[in-house]
Amino acid sequence: MKKDYEFYYTQDGSVGLYSYTDEDVYHSKYGAVSEAWEKFILPSGISKIINTKDNINVLDICYGVGYNTKALMSYVIKTDEKYLKRKNFIIKIFEKIKKIKNKILKNKNNLNLDIESIDNNNSADNSKKLLLPNESIQDEIISKFNIDCLEINEELVKMSPFLKTILTPQEIYVKIVPKIFDCFDTYWKIKKKLAKLSTKYMLRNSQNIRELLDLKFNNDYDEAINDYKIHKYVSFILIDSLIDKYKHGYIDKSLNKKLKTRRFRRYFKNSAIKYARFKQDFRYDFITKLNPLAFLHNIYYEYLSKRYKKMKFNDARKLFKLSFYINDARKSILDLNKLYDFIYLDAFTYSKAPELWTVEFISELYKHISPSGILMTYSTSAQVRNTLLENKFYIGKIINEKTGKCIGTVAAKEKSLIEHPLSNYEIGLCSTKAGIPYHDPNLNSSKDEILKRREYDFKSSELMSSTKYLKVRTAQNDNNIEDTDDEW
Ligand SMILES: C[S@@+](CC[C@H](N)C(=O)[O-])C[C@H]1O[C@@H](n2cnc3c(N)ncnc32)[C@H](O)[C@@H]1O
Repeated sequence: MKKDYEFYYTQDGSVGLYSYTDEDVYHSKYGAVSEAWEKFILPSGISKIINTKDNINVLDICYGVGYNTKALMSYVIKTDEKYLKRKNFIIKIFEKIKKIKNKILKNKNNLNLDIESIDNNNSADNSKKLLLPNESIQDEIISKFNIDCLEINEELVKMSPFLKTILTPQEIYVKIVPKIFDCFDTYWKIKKKLAKLSTKYMLRNSQNIRELLDLKFNNDYDEAINDYKIHKYVSFILIDSLIDKYKHGYIDKSLNKKLKTRRFRRYFKNSAIKYARFKQDFRYDFITKLNPLAFLHNIYYEYLSKRYKKMKFNDARKLFKLSFYINDARKSILDLNKLYDFIYLDAFTYSKAPELWTVEFISELYKHISPSGILMTYSTSAQVRNTLLENKFYIGKIINEKTGKCIGTVAAKEKSLIEHPLSNYEIGLCSTKAGIPYHDPNLNSSKDEILKRREYDFKSSELMSSTKYLKVRTAQNDNNIEDTDDEW
């Protein structure tokens, strides 16, 4: 059987993916979930608009197995929960105040207090005060999120709710125990020998994946970051949306085979698979004929009971409208006519997927971003940055708050939205040969055509090479020429 994927646990307990077809890893070994939070959710400034805008539009380009969308949904649900807690707290206080007021009213004769006159004098104000919190809470709704997910590989989208985003206790045990033993010298020596032997006989590809991961994500994180989680409702909301899209065809033969494969099983969430199977089998066969509650009872009580009793799951579900576009993102983007508040651009590196980093594709993104919108990408390359600049975007850096390192690029139509502008050196680098962009005039060229076109532009360009630029800058620094990292 032709292999297409390999899974691996990343350091935050979420499952990462390697694709044999693309010969590339999809997620950082330091944490697929952490990466999504740090590169796409926290730098977006979402906290500033979540309570002020009714509808927030998000475009997730290269949804893959959906970590960026999942992290966004988790952020939104968490914010909603905080807001609900506050709402309940305020309501309780005002119920208490009402009770006290009623008590006082009952005893007003005994107390000989002219509360009524006080009430009447201030009736407008008091009633307003008592009603105000409830009314203001109703006004203060959390925005509804329309998330459009573009992905070329349908199977990944279908599989996305099932991938584990956290290790089970047994898996943690298996990971930790060898680390404890590492402390012992003898064990370390034996382990080293065994490791050498096992690499010799190891499957060629698992060695490749490890090397690739080391190569790609060498300096992004200092340690595994465990603060970022995916909310427990997210998988179930995704399943509901995917069942709506695919109906009986959601878990088809080929996906079913994957979910059952021994090699893969430990990476999937059993509860989510059961929920999806139940929904697929029963929702469309019986739901219209029989009382659905009878069928849903078991599954909800087994997997969603606590949440369902509180009706929170349904509330959370209402916060999102998810749409999946399974096609080349270059085609899908032409069918979309919204203006997006957030765009996540998470394509493979520019040399592997040049079609999603061309001047023409980025120009489409410029047309689709709202005036106050933010585009985020993990790429820090001069070429990608220059492509954004050529499209009149203002650009800046994504800085990891914990490590202070630059982990990506943000782009916006509005200059004031850029929190960490590029330094003079970085801007200069964009104008060297390294910044020469890809072109795809009709948004339909093949990967090779795009690469060849750039090769030609590169060879015929008279721009300074990035190596020479580096030398000139170093010489300038050596000569103490002031090199201010002025804001751009
Ligand atoms: C780096 S991975 C994205 C990972 C993803 N954000 C996640 O959370 O799993 C790149 C994704 O781009 C998809 N892709 C590649 N070429 C594409 C294209 N032309 N249009 C849409 N998606 C594409 C691949 O199938 C892959 O899932």
